[in-house]
Order: sequence, then C-alpha cells, then structure tokens
Amino acid sequence: MFIKPKKALSLKECKFYHSVPLPDSSIITGDWDLTKCADVYLGNMDYANKRVIDVGAGSGFLSFFMEQKGASVVSYDMPDGSYWDVLKYPGHQPAMHTKAHEEYYNAYDYTHEKMNSKCKIYRADIYKDLPEELGEFDAAIFGTMLSHVRDPMLVLMNILYKVKEFAVLINPFVNKDHNGSTFYPGQNQFERVWWNIDYSTIERMVNSIGWHIADSYDVFPIQNVNLDVPKKQKYRSLVIERYS
Ligand SMILES: C[S@@+](CC[C@H](N)C(=O)[O-])C[C@H]1O[C@@H](n2cnc3c(N)ncnc32)[C@H](O)[C@@H]1O
Repeated sequence: MFIKPKKALSLKECKFYHSVPLPDSSIITGDWDLTKCADVYLGNMDYANKRVIDVGAGSGFLSFFMEQKGASVVSYDMPDGSYWDVLKYPGHQPAMHTKAHEEYYNAYDYTHEKMNSKCKIYRADIYKDLPEELGEFDAAIFGTMLSHVRDPMLVLMNILYKVKEFAVLINPFVNKDHNGSTFYPGQNQFERVWWNIDYSTIERMVNSIGWHIADSYDVFPIQNVNLDVPKKQKYRSLVIERYS
C-alpha cells in the first residue's frame, strides 16, 4: 500500500515546493519557506508519539518536521502522474503539469533519503475513502490544500472520519465578517485555487461533522515563487478538535 521513495536522485531531477534544511546544514530554497514559522503553521501542537496524516504533503517539509518532533507520519498526496483538480472545458489539456508534480515528489524522496526518514508515502484519489489498512490517526494536517480541491467538504469528511484527537487546517481563512466564501477558479484551468474559504464557512463545515475550532493563530509563511523579492503572506492556522 505504501510507495517506496526513489533513491539516489540528483537535485536536477527535483523541484522543491518547500525550503528544506538538510542534515549537512545546507538549506535548499523552495517555492515557500515555512522554516521560521513551522510550529505556528502546525497549530503549536505537540506531535510527539502521535500518528499523523499530512494531507497534501507536497515535497514534504511538514512531514519531516513532525517526524523530527517525534511523530509517526503518513505523507498523503495524489497518485503519480495525476495533477491538481482543473477546470474542464473544450480545449483543456489536463496532463500538462504532471511533470512538475513528479519533480515535487522527487524532492520529497530526495529529502527522505537525506534525512534517513521513516515517513510513509501514501498516494491515492483524495475523493475516495481511506482504506481500512491505513488504520486510524491521532492527528491530521491540511496545509494550504483545502482551497485547491474542488470538493473540500468531501476531503474533510474522508480524512477526519479516521482522526481521533485533533487536526490543523491552514489557509488564509479570511475574517468572520467576510460575506461568505467565494468560488474562485480563475479565468483558466491553471489557476488552481477553487475556493476562498472564509472563517465562518470553515467553522460551519467542521461543526457539521462533529468538530469545533479550539484555537486559531495568524501565521506568516514566506512566498519565494513568482516574486522578485520574497514576501510574507498572512495565513491562519486553525486547530480543530472533536466535540466531546
Ligand atoms: C499548496 S500545496 C501545500 C503543501 C503543504 N501541505 C504545505 O502546507 O505547504 C497543496 C498540496 O495539495 C495537494 N493537492 C492539490 N490538489 C489535490 C487533489 N485534488 N488531491 C490530492 N492532493 C491535492 C498538492 O499535490 C500539494 O501537495
């Protein structure tokens, strides 16, 4: 069920979504730098001895970070050769970006080897139930991914059903006074943000399936990609727990 990471990849075969510090003290710069804000991004929670599923793990910085804090991690993402949900309309080209995605997975595997990691890799269609063999989790993290899926409610239901203690949801989650979440697919299929999910909407979504927001933190990841000068963005990290 778990995928074996590739070995002996070269850096040229990799594309790093995340900046990552390696054991030899070098730092690889990625599209986004979470190195200075990882604890807050992850809701200031204690991950020691927790079994955690990292939903939308990408090139894996958060999985490896939690492992270093003592967690046993399953890094979950879409199957090799697939790509993020896209709009379908006459003339669309669905397979166009799969190579870039393979390079993000290579970056995951490269880091996995360098860090001598034991994180497990599971890749499947996120709209299907998790298989029984995967078991249950103490915690889940959904790092900047709910806005990128066409059906964030189904994703939350499928994963949280198997989570016992807490989850952390990270996204901009704009203020309560914002007048509802918006459908935001952009003008073409490669604009891969589907939803601008506001705070009160995410609160209703999780409340409706037996969870409540226990804590909320502002967090400032650094965006390197598509900018001449790196820029801090403002996100919100929500810790959710089950109603007792
Ligand atoms: C913006 S990246 C965030 C990476 C990391 N979780 C973080 O917080 O920095 C979004 C992640 O969600 C995953 N993702 C996007 N659409 C998905 C889908 N339809 N099914 C499964 N994973 C998806 C991507 O592959 C990617 O790893």
